[in-house]
Amino acid sequence: MSPRRLRLAVLASGRGTNLQALLDAGQDPDYPAEVALVLSDRADAPALRRAREAGAEAEWIDPAPGGLFERIGGRIEGAGAGLVCCAGFMRILPPEFVRRFAGRILNIHPSLLPSFPGLHAQRKAVRAGVRVAGCTVHFIDEGVDTGPVVLQAAVPVLPGDDEEALSGRILRYEHRIYPLAVRLIAEGRVRLEGRKVLIEGTGGEGQGFISPPLAGLPGGGEGR
Ligand code: GRF
Repeated sequence: MSPRRLRLAVLASGRGTNLQALLDAGQDPDYPAEVALVLSDRADAPALRRAREAGAEAEWIDPAPGGLFERIGGRIEGAGAGLVCCAGFMRILPPEFVRRFAGRILNIHPSLLPSFPGLHAQRKAVRAGVRVAGCTVHFIDEGVDTGPVVLQAAVPVLPGDDEEALSGRILRYEHRIYPLAVRLIAEGRVRLEGRKVLIEGTGGEGQGFISPPLAGLPGGGEGR
């Protein structure tokens, strides 16, 4: 582990594919961050196995005895982590914990927040009939999925989509924007100003898209 890289603590309860994306990013010596510690509230979380396979420290924190977040906070600080990344961590963080790591704790959520916060975001998007869905990396504040947005990626919702198909399409972008957001923070390019996250070196309009594409109709295809 290199001392000049930002040390990450990742909190995960489940399968850990976003953790994997961060572990994989850290394999590149030029990536400015590395997973130093993975903590899970579930002893059997595949995320713990992924961490160990990648050579990262991984620990189950037993939620039963109480004081869970005190202990998690202590482990994070003990590991010298500069940024905490929640990645499918299925517990609501208490306000004291959020304040302890204010401005240094991120989450990834499978919707274009502020739409569809909370559980089953992809199912809610399919049921609502939206044409565009996506994912969000945000700083955590004291609400549920309400913190300042760092990055978002949008994907189309296709006519035949069920929850599973949409989740898969969104997940591929989760795996791109989480390591990207961490990179930007590690490079010191991200500044929080109230609810806004300012990112140095970004600009331009980017690419908009119409969903669904309506090829052949005026205004429906590619922009002029
Ligand atoms: C992801 O969809 C993430 O957006 C949400 O929980 C899921 C975790 O998946 N917060 P994984 O454990 O990273 O595979």
